[in-house]
Amino acid sequence: MIFLPMEIIKKKRNGFPLTSEEINFFIQSYTKSQIPDYQMSALLMAIYFRGMNNEETLALTKSMLHSGITVDLSSVPGFKVDKHSTGGVGDKTSLILGPIVAAAGLPVPMISGRGLGHTGGTLDKLESIPGFNTQLSLEDFRKNVLEKKICFIGQTQEICPADKKIYALRDVTATIESLPLICASIISKKMAEGIDGLVLDVKFGSGAFMKELSDAESLAQNLMSIARGYGKKVVALLTNMNQPLGRFAGNSLEVEECVSILKNETSQDPVEARMVNETRELSLILSAHMIHLSGQTSSIDEAYSRAEKVLISGKAYEKFLELCQIHSGNLSLLPRPEHQLAVVSSQKGYINSMNTEAIGVAGLLLKAGRAKASDVIEPTAGVEFHKKVGDSVSIGEKIFTIYGKDPGLFASAQVKLLESLSISLQKTAAEPLIKKILS
Ligand code: URA
Repeated sequence: MIFLPMEIIKKKRNGFPLTSEEINFFIQSYTKSQIPDYQMSALLMAIYFRGMNNEETLALTKSMLHSGITVDLSSVPGFKVDKHSTGGVGDKTSLILGPIVAAAGLPVPMISGRGLGHTGGTLDKLESIPGFNTQLSLEDFRKNVLEKKICFIGQTQEICPADKKIYALRDVTATIESLPLICASIISKKMAEGIDGLVLDVKFGSGAFMKELSDAESLAQNLMSIARGYGKKVVALLTNMNQPLGRFAGNSLEVEECVSILKNETSQDPVEARMVNETRELSLILSAHMIHLSGQTSSIDEAYSRAEKVLISGKAYEKFLELCQIHSGNLSLLPRPEHQLAVVSSQKGYINSMNTEAIGVAGLLLKAGRAKASDVIEPTAGVEFHKKVGDSVSIGEKIFTIYGKDPGLFASAQVKLLESLSISLQKTAAEPLIKKILS
């Protein structure tokens, strides 16, 4: 059936639900470049403001999933499991939990994304390792999942081509924070990768796309119900993004943090050790849920011990090195930032809150992410965190360190970072990392 794109845009703009035929026409035509970016941008903005009902969200997800093919992993034995996060700042757990779960014996096929808005993306982090190629063929993807139990790729012309194009467009048109668009983007990728189970890390708070816990919970419920409709086992963890996760945000810096965890290194500096431990802990908990979904353990605690044992044994690090090898990445050449700047406090008191989105925007100003689709990422750019919510600060004490190649970008990032903080004389208690588990 043929429709006029502007009629569909107008219908959604005016708040009416679209039929599955209209949605499918728009998505398939856009994927084949028969509808231009400007019309898709207009529809995305209309969806952003008007939302979609459950039927529309499901139709959008199906259409995006069927814009490409689904990987057939039936020849790979075992329970194939993945994790997907809805996006955060310093959220690097995939690089740790993928190797842990694969080393624990479960196949982990991962179709990941790039940075989106102020949040980082797994592919960008991995590509900061010189030579790391995320553009493997589907045949290589299947072979690696079969033989090595792990492989990371992005959306391709074959898998989720609609998400490949729409994701990049949403990134630069301020149309990310929309429940139906996030749902369709995540589920289309995850259902295409041939998994049996999925762990969802749904972020809430100032650095998440869903600022309110209740919105994050409805996103989680929607994601779970669509994934279950496809016959997948699924669990969702609602995790805190009211502050960045871990010690660093920025691509090669985050890889360094992950490598230190995988190598079981512990910093002598208690602040560094505490920051890194946040990442380690969340990675282990998510790994435990991935293992537990497979039905191989009788409790989450048992699955956690299994994940931790694999990490402590060094097998997860070996798996990470193997992963670098299959993707042609040379970890020994991981670039180091050329310049750095300490950002210090001009006030005395306690960190009351952190606007994590503003911290992500500081990363964008440093070129750790893209402000427009054609931007090239500086892999070493990013921020180190010395303080988190509830910590005391004195005048002149370091709160952040900015890293990168171009010190000319540091001043505006510094302003943004300082603006992101609220410091008061009263101590605020830090919130727990995991708020709720929906299973
Ligand atoms: N992650 C995705 O893959 N898509 C979104 O829309 C948001 C987070």
